[in-house]
Amino acid sequence: MNISKLLTEKLLAALAEIGLEVPDPSRIQVKPADDLRYGDYQSTVAMMLAKPAGKNPRVIASELMEHLDVAALAEVSIAGPGFLNFTITSETWSVLAKKQWQDPNHSVQVVPKPETVVIDFSAPNVAKPMHIGHIRSTIIGECLGRIASRLGHKVIKDNHIGDWGTQFGMVTWAWKKEVNEEQLRIEPLQELLRLYRSATDACKEDESIKDACRQELVALQDGNPENLAIWNRCLELSRKGLDEIYTRLDVSFDHWLGESSYNDALALLVEKLKSQDLARESDGALCVFSDESGKPKNDPFKVNRDGEWQDYPMIVRKKDGAFNYATTDIATVVFRADEWKAEKVWYVVDFRQGGHFKQLFEVSRRFGYDQIDLVHVAFGTILGKDGKPLKTRAGDLPQLANVLNDAVKAAREVVGNKSHLNTEEEKDELAELIGVNSVKFTELSHHRMSDYVFDLDKMVALEGDTAPYLFYSYVRARSIFRKLEEGAVDTLDAKKLTITEPAEIHLVRMLTRFGDNVSVVLDDFRPNILATYLLELARSFHSFFEACPVLRAEGETRESRLILCDLTSRVIKDGLNLLGIQVPERM
Ligand code: ARG
Repeated sequence: MNISKLLTEKLLAALAEIGLEVPDPSRIQVKPADDLRYGDYQSTVAMMLAKPAGKNPRVIASELMEHLDVAALAEVSIAGPGFLNFTITSETWSVLAKKQWQDPNHSVQVVPKPETVVIDFSAPNVAKPMHIGHIRSTIIGECLGRIASRLGHKVIKDNHIGDWGTQFGMVTWAWKKEVNEEQLRIEPLQELLRLYRSATDACKEDESIKDACRQELVALQDGNPENLAIWNRCLELSRKGLDEIYTRLDVSFDHWLGESSYNDALALLVEKLKSQDLARESDGALCVFSDESGKPKNDPFKVNRDGEWQDYPMIVRKKDGAFNYATTDIATVVFRADEWKAEKVWYVVDFRQGGHFKQLFEVSRRFGYDQIDLVHVAFGTILGKDGKPLKTRAGDLPQLANVLNDAVKAAREVVGNKSHLNTEEEKDELAELIGVNSVKFTELSHHRMSDYVFDLDKMVALEGDTAPYLFYSYVRARSIFRKLEEGAVDTLDAKKLTITEPAEIHLVRMLTRFGDNVSVVLDDFRPNILATYLLELARSFHSFFEACPVLRAEGETRESRLILCDLTSRVIKDGLNLLGIQVPERM
């Protein structure tokens, strides 16, 4: 049962009864109140309709109040210029808590029209390290996938790794000279990175090496067996290193269709673009230009240089005949639409690639792929404590694996000081869980477009808007049941649920908002809405716990409060799981 919807229906019925014309019924809504002093839900309908009806809003409000058939649900009052306020009755709260407790989905509802959604996320570049910038994509993408599945969509998670292109010329050049097989086995990603860096350094010093690297790439593209073999091993080793990180992050994919998967489709694709007059030659390259249909300001194929609008084409075949990132991405849209029947594709990629995606989406549309909904789910930058993009002491981008290790180290300190666990192994395990998940939760609790400061000590702290705070709330709610006989949860009786105390009511109020807070994440791809909600839920749980004794209470009150503890722990666990985060049972 969704109270917002129910009250909205009642309100529309009342409007019909008093004969007031409603120009756009979809705009009539009873929403959760911002200020709980006036009630739980609120509507501004009287103010909205006052002007067109030529009536005083308070008069409309009181007419509506007389006709509102909500007696069993809520008490209605009028405030200020004509707000209608609804205060849910404690009977209703009891019914709602009971329903949610008996529902394994905790009142999360599936969408009426499920769709096939491809999520393109993580997508690191092979032979280059996966760095902290990829963390945002990986964590947000996984979370969106979990939520979309839960809401009933068919989700396809695709890791479009960068497994083709110039970096392989570099790595192959260095590989032939100095690969360390031993290191490749132990730390594949590190060794590949070392080779890549060794080649970049050499290129800086000697122009001719640049050429040699380019030759290696050409040889690979021409199918030279030795170069192909090296490339294949690079992929295999990267995959091994990446899998380790994904396991650690509890992230998974349905497909790994990297850039190279589309190699064979590119020549034909480009021919089609050309024959349909979508692309034309310019300076030896094949490009897509503006169709001059809109304002240059909104045209993805224009840039403003020195106050003048100039062409900014999308290159689909370079001067030297090579295809590029853009060509591959067009082929990828075609494949996902034709083969997977994707209705939506969400690209979870750094905001700096915004221009590329605008062009890609426009080219796709002109190419006939105008039914598929393509979205760039962009995100900002992770900052160091100095407010600048996060770097290591050596000035490099920090690597994901190192970041996770540092987080676990920081967590281990907190665990060492505070945990009730007995053995060192248990503490290590908890530190791994807290460390990794603190990084994830911090990511998900920020608006994706905002830059945030990466502060390990803050992330792993027990107090604050952190994962450990939520873990602690979960463990606290569960720990009650350890003091009871085993199976005590199963004997709880929902018939006995009676919610009366303000702290109980507030907790149930928060619990019943779970479903809406899950659904709304996908409206603008904002996991932080769910993360913030869970923190608020946890706070209302602690207030309840302090105000209302549970085990010391008796009869129906005790039973009700045990049910609230069970329900709260389940909703926290469920919500965190939708964010991609696992909870510890003890800490
Ligand atoms: N490999 C790219 C990078 O690291 C991201 C790829 C994103 N996905 C896409 N279809 N372009 O920047």
